[in-house]
This record gives sequence, C-alpha cells and structure tokens, in this order.
Amino acid sequence: MTAAHKIDIPEEQWDRVFAPSSCLATITTIDSDGRVNAASFGTCTRVCHDPVYIAFTVGVVKDTANNVLSTGEFVVNLPAWDKRQLEQVRVTGLSFEPGVNELEKAGLTAVPSRLVRPPRIADFGRHFECEVAWTQSWLHRLMVCGKVVAVSCTAGLVDPDGYVLWDKVKSAHYCGAPYHGNFVAAYEVMGADMVYNGPEATAGERTLPASGS
Ligand SMILES: Cc1cc2nc3c(=O)[nH]c(=O)nc-3n(C[C@H](O)[C@H](O)[C@H](O)COP(=O)(O)O)c2cc1C
Repeated sequence: MTAAHKIDIPEEQWDRVFAPSSCLATITTIDSDGRVNAASFGTCTRVCHDPVYIAFTVGVVKDTANNVLSTGEFVVNLPAWDKRQLEQVRVTGLSFEPGVNELEKAGLTAVPSRLVRPPRIADFGRHFECEVAWTQSWLHRLMVCGKVVAVSCTAGLVDPDGYVLWDKVKSAHYCGAPYHGNFVAAYEVMGADMVYNGPEATAGERTLPASGS
C-alpha cells in the first residue's frame, strides 16, 4: 500500500476519526539522526476534542521517549482487529536496540507523513500526525501530549462526514500487560438511552448520524 491509498481528513472531522476515544496504537518517531522507530502503546487516548490532542505514556528509558524529547514529533497509527496486524503490533512492542527500525522487523511499510518527519505505517488504517505540546516525567515514565496537525486514513474507512465505519475500521485495543499478547475487539457499537430526565441530559445530547456511529 502506498500514500496514494490514503485520504486526508479535514480538521473538523479529526475527533471523529480517533474512535473509540482510547485506541491501541503503534507510534512512529525518528531519532536525532533521522532513524525511524516504532513502538506499541495501549495507553493512547484522545484527551481534547477541539483542538484535537492525543496523549500516551512511555518508559523514560525507551527510544520513543528519547525521540519525542529530541525531535518534538510523533505519529499515532491505529491498527485493526486483524490477526496479521496484531501480530505486527506485538513485534513493534519488542525492545530493540536504539536505531533499529521496528517497521522492518515487523514487515510493515512506511509512507511519508503529510506534515511531520516520522512516517505513517501504510498497513494500518488511521494516522494522526502530532507535534509535542507538553511532556511530564513522573516515577519512571514520561507522559506525552501531542497536538494533532494532520489526519489521514485508508480510503473507505470513514463516511463522507468523517464518521468511522466500524465494520471497516475494526478498532482494536490491548488487554494490558497482565494479559500478555491478548487484544479485544473495540468496534461493537450499542446506543445507550438517556434514562435521566433533568436539564443536564438534553444539554449534553448530541445528534448522531443514522448509522449509529
Ligand atoms: C500491545 C502493546 C501495548 C503496549 N503499550 C505500552 C504503553 O502503553 N506504554 C509503554 O510504555 N509501553 C507499552 N508497550 C511496550 C512498548 O511497546 C515496548 O517497551 C517497546 O520496546 C518500546 O519501544 P521503543 O524503545 O522503541 O520506544 C506495549 C507493548 C505492546 C506489545
């Protein structure tokens, strides 16, 4: 797959494309010599709608932490609930030496990003190019929050209004380190009725498209 198969998403639709609001991700960065790095993250969350910001946590000794601090850029790539892609996510989650390109180790293909230097991962469906807004160190971890500057996806994954087509994107999530190597499907959608009648309820309601996205 090449960049030609990717479509750019207009800014007013960016928060619709990062759904559900926390997603399994493989994050690409480059080091100060321009070498590509990729690592997997279960802690990736959209933390602001408008403008759209995405945050994640990473160990301070990890290449991703060093690269984010030295270059100020990262790309969040969202894989699907697909065995091959999830196997590749496990490979990019391994601890390779600094300078090793995990995309090559996992058999993944890089395509240039639109606005930042780290590449997008062609094989995965959705891409959020970010500039670091702030970082916070605590314990042995680094919290990273990035402002999204460009969003793109594989053609056919979103409707004309930018709402994800759940049966096409097949969002996935990580069960977490205690569940080593296991993932959950995160694309079965169910509307929940508003069962509270107070004024706060109508103030918070949004109109969603008929597809129930
Ligand atoms: C599915 C999956 C999810 C992961 N989530 C996180 C995470 O949220 N935070 C973290 O620090 N490490 C996480 N890891 C581990 C990192 O991907 C791993 O430490 C990796 O070696 C970091 O690579 P780097 O040194 O190239 O940054 C995860 C691993 C897998 C396989």
